[in-house]
Amino acid sequence: MQMSDQRVAIVTGANKGLGLAIAENFVNEGKKVVFVIRNKENLEQTKQRFQPEVVEEQMMFIQLDVSSINGIKEAVNQVLNQWGRIDILVNNAGIRFETPIEEINEEEWDQVLSVNLKSTFFFSQAVIPAMKERGWGRIINLSSFGGQAGPLTSGAHYSASKAGQIALSKSFARSLAADGITVNAVAPASVRTPEMDKMDPDKLAQMIETIPLKRVGEPQEVADLVSYLASDSGGFTTGATFDINGGRLMR
Ligand SMILES: NC(=O)c1ccc[n+]([C@@H]2O[C@H](COP(=O)([O-])OP(=O)(O)OC[C@H]3O[C@@H](n4cnc5c(N)ncnc54)[C@H](O)[C@@H]3O)[C@@H](O)[C@H]2O)c1
Repeated sequence: MQMSDQRVAIVTGANKGLGLAIAENFVNEGKKVVFVIRNKENLEQTKQRFQPEVVEEQMMFIQLDVSSINGIKEAVNQVLNQWGRIDILVNNAGIRFETPIEEINEEEWDQVLSVNLKSTFFFSQAVIPAMKERGWGRIINLSSFGGQAGPLTSGAHYSASKAGQIALSKSFARSLAADGITVNAVAPASVRTPEMDKMDPDKLAQMIETIPLKRVGEPQEVADLVSYLASDSGGFTTGATFDINGGRLMR
């Protein structure tokens, strides 16, 4: 087992969108970063974005569907066996459907709750012993505006899962504060994704009109917020939900 002073961060769904920006920020900050990616092809493509020396020194790639609880436990063991510590966990992987309430069936309900909420609980549970051991830890859960205000377009199951992540963040925050572990939620809305770039330009312009800051957010802006929460400077903040939505929700 190799130990070093570098902090170790796990980011789920790290192959694109916010997860990739968050994981890249951590790599650039010199952390050791575990990229949890569901599918092998995406995993290989993501690896190729980085210089081989950086991959070798700072990165670990784990292929995992986060809805598998056994898979989560195995992944955590793998990180501890190879790097000996886990300091930061970002529960970012998520799925979103726009299915109307009348059409949501049990299978889709279970899928959304499993990927978005159950994985957040069990991944966090699995890293706690390693964080407690060092008396320091950061857990950051990617929730959503849809979990705070009722969704604009997403389904009720998505909204419920994202609200659940906010509640879990508070439960974990209270129970882990004495151990030096902070747990916070980040609630984005309208942050650029590859899907957004494919949207009909008129529809996108209409959507932007509803955002007080009159633009979409950039993944880098979310990544910088997550980096702050994951840092020593973020140490007095726990159980909070950070809105990053261009002013759509003011509270
Ligand atoms: N972009 C936004 O404006 C926005 C708004 C609100 C909330 N969010 C939240 O932020 C997070 C990231 O959003 P994004 O916009 O980058 O989305 P995205 O769809 O681009 O990325 C989601 C990531 O999760 C991964 N993933 C999905 N199911 C998985 C599974 N079973 N196992 C492992 N990985 C899985 C995907 O492969 C992908 O890498 C999500 O939790 C999302 O709900 C984003």
